[in-house]
Amino acid sequence: MKLRIDKMLSNIGLGSRKQIKQDAKKGFIKINDEIIKDSSKIIDTEVDEIKYKNETVKYVQYIYLMMNKPQGVVSATEDNYDKTVIDLLEDNDKFYEPFPVGRLDKDTEGLLLITNNGKLAHDLLSPRKHVNKKYYVEVAEEVIEEDVKAFAKGVTLEDGYNTLPAKLEIIESGYPSKCYVTIKEGKYHQIKRMFKGIDNEVVYLKRISMGPLNLDETLKLGQYRHLTKEEIHKL
Ligand code: URA
Repeated sequence: MKLRIDKMLSNIGLGSRKQIKQDAKKGFIKINDEIIKDSSKIIDTEVDEIKYKNETVKYVQYIYLMMNKPQGVVSATEDNYDKTVIDLLEDNDKFYEPFPVGRLDKDTEGLLLITNNGKLAHDLLSPRKHVNKKYYVEVAEEVIEEDVKAFAKGVTLEDGYNTLPAKLEIIESGYPSKCYVTIKEGKYHQIKRMFKGIDNEVVYLKRISMGPLNLDETLKLGQYRHLTKEEIHKL
């Protein structure tokens, strides 16, 4: 990727472009071991070696963010009416043009992976890969053992589609009932439609895991963080 040295360094969090400009004047920036005082210089991240205060800095190609999605924002990059999850990102992260991996409904909360790695997103979403998605669900009516069996067999949705077997774990049965549901697919409104298929109704939905990724419960709604190296390796 070709871009200005000040843009590169500020995008990886080393300071504002104004600060980088001052740092360049002080001789803190080297390109291929040559001090560069002009911070508008264009570099090629593939070939140029960049040093900042004598430390080599690497430009990352991909970013991986975990968001605790709040209700009221849509899982899209752009929308004419609603705020999107991308609107909640800092400019330094938006720079990488990330997008959400799959969709959570506007009123669904919880784990959303946001990345600019198209191949990884494609793999995680591929129906053939059967990536587990676990949700915490509250439903209006009582959940009973028969429902666990129905989910284990797969539920017929209103359009006649039979879902793959899903795991329903009852936490508390009542009004509302609380449970966990793990599915391997990602059909439109799948959890809501599965409960409709057994004459119940989802009143609250939150995704808590996707494949090897678990929602970091320290993230408040609308907050996000970069994945750790270990989390990226597991993907
Ligand atoms: N199932 C749904 O019904 N909604 C979501 O947002 C995710 C899964």
